Amino acid sequence: MRIETQRESERLGAVQIHGLQKVYELDSGEHYGYDDSYNNSVIQRISSEALYEKQKQMAIVVPVKNERLKLIEGVLVGIPSPCQIIVVSNSPRGPVDRFEMEKDAIENFCRFTNKRVTVVHQKDVGIAKAIELAGYTELLDDKGLVRSGKAEGMIMGTLLAKWLGKKYLGFVDSDNYFPGAVHEYVQEYAAGFVMHDTDNTFVRISWHSKPKIMENSLFFAKWGRSSVHSNNALNRLLAHYTGYETEVVKTGNAGEHALTVDLALNIEYAAGYAVETHHFINLLEMYSGILDETEPTAFRDKITICQIESRNPHLHESKGDDHVEDMIDASLSVIYNSPLCPELLKRELASEKARRLKVEETESFDKVKVYGNLNTLNIGVFLENCEKALGNAKVELSV
Ligand code: GDP
Ligand code: CO
Repeated sequence: MRIETQRESERLGAVQIHGLQKVYELDSGEHYGYDDSYNNSVIQRISSEALYEKQKQMAIVVPVKNERLKLIEGVLVGIPSPCQIIVVSNSPRGPVDRFEMEKDAIENFCRFTNKRVTVVHQKDVGIAKAIELAGYTELLDDKGLVRSGKAEGMIMGTLLAKWLGKKYLGFVDSDNYFPGAVHEYVQEYAAGFVMHDTDNTFVRISWHSKPKIMENSLFFAKWGRSSVHSNNALNRLLAHYTGYETEVVKTGNAGEHALTVDLALNIEYAAGYAVETHHFINLLEMYSGILDETEPTAFRDKITICQIESRNPHLHESKGDDHVEDMIDASLSVIYNSPLCPELLKRELASEKARRLKVEETESFDKVKVYGNLNTLNIGVFLENCEKALGNAKVELSV
């Protein structure tokens, strides 16, 4: 891959946020036999071997709920071979057992590709038990099973990535229409980990464009309607603390993201649409040194946030537009309700919300559910019990 070097960046305490990097060549060849004289201060080349080395240590978590089987298959096709795929499905088991259908389709895919895919249901009794014994009961519902929701599925996927011994963890939605886009995301995750070879790296993707039909022709929109709001709010938050206006944040609610498993196990996950924005906020809360209560030990290592602009258009299953307002609300809520958020920004966010909703009163933001830091879960106990519950599945599902 050939990619822009980092230029602009912002540093708050231990958190370093790099500006968006453009990709200039998706595959720029192998390690040997290529002229590296193009590695200059503007562009760097990352060999395909270097990307593969990272992918060998990477799990890709694919959350699924009621997606068409053809879509899921297309997503799996796009994931590079060295990655360990983990499918976490919350599809209904009755009256039609969608999960069984998904498993059949995935097994078939495994036969053709000679691949190992771990498939679990979000309501798996064994995993829920392991989570309970590990003391992380807030993730469980009144039946003692993992709660529904994509964020909850992501937490489950994170724990399974640890169980499978992986160092890196990436997320890819299962409703993506372009296998080529999925492939590109995972290559870019790996590129981020090559450029920042640390235990605390976070890679976030900003799509180059999203195709839409407008007046009977294709239009490539650059920014989603909700990302404008969360990026803007995060940038204003940073500006408050650095004293300089900035546009460094471009991936405030990037669904396509990857991080080291170490970091994923040391961070809070918010429920619903707020999960991605909250990751950003939570890293600043814990490691920027702004809040007094942060433990000094938390500062030992630098946390790097790396943002990459993908080239493929992003097209996913259209589920209607009614949730855009909810998405904006959820991601702004975690900024608004964070102890980091200054009074002035709170007032601005509230009056902007009132304007958006065309109401007179200044609106505040309801708190969204935030699960406790995963480091409060006893990982040793989880792994032991997960092995008891899924040990056989490890073999059975590896075709
Ligand atoms: P959007 O892309 O943000 O509009 O949200 P989607 O409805 O497309 O959901 C994103 C991804 O999460 C898709 O791959 C869904 O299939 C998946 N998903 C949604 N809800 C759940 C859930 O409760 N559990 C799991 N495991 N996955 C879910
Ligand atoms: Co989607």
